[in-house]
Amino acid sequence: MASPDGKHCRSQTNGEAKPPDSKKQKITELITDDEIMSEFSHHDASVARINNGSFGACPQSVISAQQRWQLRFLRQPDSFYFNDLKPGILESREAIRSLISADDVSEVSIVDNATTAAAIVLQQMTWAFAEGRFEKGDVAVMLHYAYGAVKKSMEAYVTRAGGRVFEVQLPFPVSSNEEIITEFKLALERGKVKGQRIRLAVIDHVTSMPSVVIPVKELVKICREEGVDQVFVDAAHGIGCVDVDVKEIGADFYTSNLHKWFFCPPSAAFLYCRKSAKFSDLHHPVVSHEYGNGLAIESAWIGTRDYSSQLVVPSAVEFVNRFKGGIEGIKKRNHEVVVRMGEMLAESWGTSLGCPPDMCSSMIMVGLPSCLRITCERDTLKLRAHLRECYRVEVPIYYRSPKEGEIDPITGYARISHQVYNKLEDYERFRDAINKLVSDKFTCPSLSA
Ligand SMILES: Cc1ncc(COP(=O)(O)O)c(C=O)c1O
Repeated sequence: MASPDGKHCRSQTNGEAKPPDSKKQKITELITDDEIMSEFSHHDASVARINNGSFGACPQSVISAQQRWQLRFLRQPDSFYFNDLKPGILESREAIRSLISADDVSEVSIVDNATTAAAIVLQQMTWAFAEGRFEKGDVAVMLHYAYGAVKKSMEAYVTRAGGRVFEVQLPFPVSSNEEIITEFKLALERGKVKGQRIRLAVIDHVTSMPSVVIPVKELVKICREEGVDQVFVDAAHGIGCVDVDVKEIGADFYTSNLHKWFFCPPSAAFLYCRKSAKFSDLHHPVVSHEYGNGLAIESAWIGTRDYSSQLVVPSAVEFVNRFKGGIEGIKKRNHEVVVRMGEMLAESWGTSLGCPPDMCSSMIMVGLPSCLRITCERDTLKLRAHLRECYRVEVPIYYRSPKEGEIDPITGYARISHQVYNKLEDYERFRDAINKLVSDKFTCPSLSA
C-alpha cells in the first residue's frame, strides 16, 4: 500500500463506533412549511421544477454540512486524510446499511452514481469472458426500458466481450405487473434457446423513461428459479422513492443514487453486493492504492478528489428525520400527491396516465394531448426546451411510437415528479402551459430544431 506521499501507510480504520439506526426517526421537532421553503430557497423561484427524478435536490442544511467537510479537507488535508475520511465514509456506509436492511456494512460501497455501479457489476462479466469462465454467446438480459447509459455499458462490457444481450420488451402504457412478468419469462426462455447460460439479469427497480415501478422481487425470484447466475437491480431512483429492503429483494447487486430522492448533493450512490464467493471479483473501475482490499475500501479512495457528497449521508438522514415518518413518510406523501397531480393534469387535457397508480412511485407518466403532434424523440426534446424557456416549467417528455391502426394515439407522456419542495402551483403552471399551447394550435414540428 505504499504511495509516494505516504498517504496509504496507515492501516484501515475498522470503525468500532456504531452510528445510530438511520431507519429509526429521532424526532426533535417536525420541519415547518417555512423551513422547507428556506431549505430550498436556492432553487430558482421562477421555475416550476417538477423533475426531481432527473437530478434530485439538496437542501441548504445538507449543502452546509457538505461545505464543512470540504473546508475540513482544505484547511488541513493531511489530518483530514488520516483522521477523518475513512471513519466518515464508514459512518455513511453504516447509515446506508441500516436504511436498506443489509446484514453487514462490508456489503455496502459508496460510489459516484448508478452509472459507476453498473460499470462495477458489468466489468466482472468482461473478465469472466476473457478468463474463459463464460463461453462466447452466454447471455445477459435487461429491460428494453433500461437506462440508456446502462445499455451502453452492456455494449461495452458484455457484447464486446462475446456475450449476447437480450432485451425484455415491455408494454407501455402498462396496466399490470402480470404483463411485465409474462414478458420477462418469455425473454429468459428466448435467452436459453440455444442452451447458453444466462449469466446476468439487469432489472430496473423504477424505470427512467417511461417511469414504471417494476416488480423486482417477483422478477428476482423468477431468475433464481430459472438458474440465472447473477441479478443486478438498477435502482437509480430507489432509496426515498420505493421500498428498499435488499434482503427481501434478494438480488446479488442493488444500486441506488442518494442524490435523486435522498437529498444528498451530487453525486453519491451506494452499491450493495450480497456476500458470496464472487464478492472478491468486484472492483472499482478507477484503480488506485486500495485495489484488492474489497470493493467498499477501493471505492473509498479512488485518488485525490472531493469526497464530501459521500460524507454527508448522516446529514441527509438528519434532514429526512425532520419530516413526519422520516423517509417513509416523505415517500408515501410524494406518491399520493404525484398521483393526484397526474390525475388532475390528465383530466384537464383529456388524456390518461401511463400506468395505474400502484405501479408508480414519486413519478408518474401523464399523456399529453395528441394535437401537439409529438412524432419523434427530437420533438420531445424541443417541447421540453420550449416549456423550460417560454413557460418556466422543467419536465421531461417521453415519446411513444403508436401501434399500427391506433386512432388518435397519445404519443407523448410527461414524467412528473413530486418532492417535498413542490407546490400545487407548479403543476397548475404546467397544466396551463399545455392548455395554452393547445388553444394556440401549437404543434411540435413547428418548432425549429
Ligand atoms: C434507471 C436509471 N439507471 C441509471 C441512471 C443513471 O444515474 P446517474 O446519472 O446518477 O449515474 C438513471 C438516471 O436517471 C436511471 O434512471
